[in-house]
Amino acid sequence: MDQHGRKVHHPPSSYQNHKRNKDYESVSVNPEHKRVRQSHPPHHGGSPPVSSASPCRALSTRRQLYEKDFPVYKQPVEVGSFSLDGERRFFNDARQMRYFVKPHPRPNFDLRDGYKDRFVKRDDGVKEKLDHILRWILANRSKLQSSVSAASSSPALGVDIVTWRGHLTKLLTTPYETQEGWLLAATLFRGTLYISEVETEASRHDRDNRTERHEEMMYWGYKFEQYLCADDIKGSPNPVGVVNTNEAFCTVVQTKLADHKLLFSGEVDCRDGGPEAPAAPACYIELKTSAEICTPKQRSNFHRFKLLKWWAQSFLPGVPRIVAGFRDPDGLVVGTETIQISKISHLIKNEYNCWKPTVCMNFCCEFLSFVRTVVREDNPRVVHLFSWDPHQDVTYSVHRDTTYCFLPPWYVEGMASSSNPPH
Ligand code: A3P
Ligand code: MG
Repeated sequence: MDQHGRKVHHPPSSYQNHKRNKDYESVSVNPEHKRVRQSHPPHHGGSPPVSSASPCRALSTRRQLYEKDFPVYKQPVEVGSFSLDGERRFFNDARQMRYFVKPHPRPNFDLRDGYKDRFVKRDDGVKEKLDHILRWILANRSKLQSSVSAASSSPALGVDIVTWRGHLTKLLTTPYETQEGWLLAATLFRGTLYISEVETEASRHDRDNRTERHEEMMYWGYKFEQYLCADDIKGSPNPVGVVNTNEAFCTVVQTKLADHKLLFSGEVDCRDGGPEAPAAPACYIELKTSAEICTPKQRSNFHRFKLLKWWAQSFLPGVPRIVAGFRDPDGLVVGTETIQISKISHLIKNEYNCWKPTVCMNFCCEFLSFVRTVVREDNPRVVHLFSWDPHQDVTYSVHRDTTYCFLPPWYVEGMASSSNPPH
């Protein structure tokens, strides 16, 4: 796909022509310190290329390094889906799929309605890591493995990376992020890299210290979904029902970013249930809320900050459109608008020094290359923890048999028993 999400034919080596590893910097390693931190490398052509004899220790996030041709990104293909019910139980089916019902252009939805008395909030202190995706993989491994070549060098699952879409969204926006850092744990198991987020201290602190207003505003996005979604294809939304944020419908997609074969899952808000609707993921619709735009400054901020996150989240799984609700300070939706993902790069083009899709995708691609270069030991009990704070480089530390381990025994054992059929 190109940056707009259109199918394109790329010349065979448009990405590979760019020198690999040129944004990595090797530094001398003090054996006393496993974790190596480093300031930004000089950005002229003077640094030596990284050789296999001097493994790279840090990755720069400077935007300028990633202003290159858009990398090859294959059209994402939905390989399955799963559902989580009101108690967060996994089901290997689409029972939580919801259907989009077009709203009135000036709907006056009250997003505050039901916050006090019809809201079941997911416990965000429970860290599910990759568990739901792993459950989906175990239940569907014959589908995945059937396409794997017999070559012994191939990963058993036929993919290089397994993760959540949300983790990739964070990677895409990293070169432009100035507020929140991240921690990503990576484990190589049977030739596939699994990447799972670890909550940072700062994020934990923010979570424990949200204001009542912030808590309520987090509900507004889910309430907006309730006004626009029906449970059945011919049904209507039920605004007097309960909002339960445990419930989710997740798509599982497979795609390729340059030479990285990716399998990831992301929550989908709803689908177009009309007779003309295309196949998934093109039929999916992302729902979003944002503050009403009244001034040029507000429009500019919307383009610079909101649209970056919205674009990254939907572009990755190939969701082609967003239906946005614009709300006043009292939580009344005063207007709605459909935004095509393919048009976002045009919408932002008049903003001075704005974000660029190619920077986002090239950084993500280089990060995945970096992780694959660093993580060599195929062992479910080893975690490489990649850490990033705004204005810093990405660095990592290594952890063996610690609480950072995130591949559960049921998955490790399940994979072993599935791939070694008795002779
Ligand atoms: P909005 O998107 O309207 O903000 P998503 O849009 O990803 O489907 O998420 C649904 C809703 O979850 C969001 O609606 C918002 O209300 C809440 N939400 C998601 N991520 C959040 C975050 N990081 N902080 C606060 N609220 C969040
Ligand atoms: Mg949404």
